[in-house]
Amino acid sequence: MNFQKKKTINSIRKDFPILLQKKNGKPLVYLDSGAISQKPKLVIDTMSNFYLDYCSNVHRGIHELSSIATKHYENTRKSVQTFIGAKFKQEIIFTSGTTASLNLIAYSYGKTHVNNGDEILITEMEHHSNIIPWQNLCKEKKAILKVIPINNDGSIMFDEVCNLITNKTKIVSITHVSNVLGTINPVKCLIKIAHQKGAIVIVDGAQAVHHINVNVMDLNCDFYVFSSHKMYGPTGVGILYGKKRLLKKIPPFLMGGDMVKKVTFRKTTYSDLPTKLEAGTPNIAGIIGLKAAIKYIQSIGFNNIINYEKNLLSYAINKLNNISKITILGTFSNKVPVISLVMNGVHAHDIASILDGNGIATRAGHLCAQPLMERFNISAAVRVSIAIYNNKSDINMLVKTLINISEMF
Ligand code: ALA
Repeated sequence: MNFQKKKTINSIRKDFPILLQKKNGKPLVYLDSGAISQKPKLVIDTMSNFYLDYCSNVHRGIHELSSIATKHYENTRKSVQTFIGAKFKQEIIFTSGTTASLNLIAYSYGKTHVNNGDEILITEMEHHSNIIPWQNLCKEKKAILKVIPINNDGSIMFDEVCNLITNKTKIVSITHVSNVLGTINPVKCLIKIAHQKGAIVIVDGAQAVHHINVNVMDLNCDFYVFSSHKMYGPTGVGILYGKKRLLKKIPPFLMGGDMVKKVTFRKTTYSDLPTKLEAGTPNIAGIIGLKAAIKYIQSIGFNNIINYEKNLLSYAINKLNNISKITILGTFSNKVPVISLVMNGVHAHDIASILDGNGIATRAGHLCAQPLMERFNISAAVRVSIAIYNNKSDINMLVKTLINISEMF
């Protein structure tokens, strides 16, 4: 498969040094990118350069190293702004991950805007990170958590949405892409409906931004959150995009260094955006590394990524559907290359352990989505999550081993 001019799948694979490894004597087949993607050398080198050449804190030092670090750090903000199509650079806040971004919104926007009897709406396919903060907020504020149910094919019951969003709905918090099913949700339509009722919408894009081209202005979402580590970037970096007028209104969530104008024992005044919401020393190396990850994704191009991943997903689904004991969760066609499956009579953990013994890394368990597992009447599934460095040979290895497992039990 050709990407842009010279970027073949083989040259992409060479960009990821870890893929040369052997596991249990077998070539590594990495199919757990939904949990964390592997990193291209460009990202690893960019982070090393920070530590080797200009390791320094940001926004604080008068010295040259600090101004170099600050320049690179702020350039990442600009790069993220362009990557997701945000209007202002100040709308990009760095956090430690999607979970931290969602908690920040729940604890600052949520606590100041949700009251007794208000409603918060999520979907049945949310990751725990987009359930628990709202559940706690509802408990504290005596608000009501409502859930959009999903169909057997893994799509949301769109007809239910108009009944569930009412004038009392203050927040709709939905995943753009399900981490279990891969379903791409019709967030743009949901946002339009929610806005008509006066609710704000938060979109969890952790499983989306590296698979589809996201434009927050086009979506018109109020907040959009995602993580660097799933999009070929370093761990410990999250992004919180918020519309400037909303971010301006929310109180800081963490208090400490770099987020203040003036501190006295009587009173503190806070910095402007974005630093108001970035207390303490951030993950500087990671944030600088994120810029390299974005550059890497852009060097391949979303059209190429989408086409390549779509073909590989169909290839995998067709092969997996031929294994009679396997059931794939969700058959909805508009999805990213994430496949969760169960095998009749074999526990997901056993499957994942045997796959691992054959050099194949997947994720198994409740996948941080226990309510969704309950919806499908299962306790665990095996998740195969595909990235741009996977190829047909990876899928063939997976399928061959799954056939052996199905014959073993
Ligand atoms: N949220 C990550 C996943 O779905 C860890 O695997």
